Amino acid sequence: MLDNREAQLVREAFQHISLQLVGISARFYARLFERAPAVRPLFAEDIGPQTAKLAQTLTYVVSALSSRDELRERLLLLGKSHAKLGAEPAHYALVGEVLTEVLAETLDSRWTPELDAAWGRLLTFVAETMIEGGAGDVVDLPKSA
Ligand code: HEM
Repeated sequence: MLDNREAQLVREAFQHISLQLVGISARFYARLFERAPAVRPLFAEDIGPQTAKLAQTLTYVVSALSSRDELRERLLLLGKSHAKLGAEPAHYALVGEVLTEVLAETLDSRWTPELDAAWGRLLTFVAETMIEGGAGDVVDLPKSA
């Protein structure tokens, strides 16, 4: 998914922001809801606990970069629960875009084109795997006669 150099770039970047991840997640959700008000009702009214969960998951993803199979299993499960929560494949591009913006703003001059490319590849893996995990759940109900 990422080569060693790319994984190292992503790890180093996250080391710099490890203490800011909950704040970054809060800014992410605020911007996501501003840009796509239609997804707001999918989330609980109090977004506080969710910001902590996202921060935790981002930390996990970055820590598991070298354990591709384990990471993939966790993401398949997360994607499965997301399909039930109402997340649609099209939402993943928007989530990725907003998350990348907030990370890039926070890291400022540390956000290099190389880091951007490595992060983009990681995000593509995360989104594709979650979508794959959710796809198993799609059930075509028989049309009523
Ligand atoms: C980068 C991809 C994503 C990651 C890493 C991620 C991560 C998470 C995590 C860790 C949770 C908490 C799950 C739990 O409580 O068991 C969660 C919940 C949720 N996510 Fe995501 N998510 C992603 C993409 C999306 C997308 C594309 C949507 C679609 C709008 C979405 C909508 C939701 C909703 C509605 C909840 C439940 C919130 C609540 O309980 O209030 N997520 N997400």
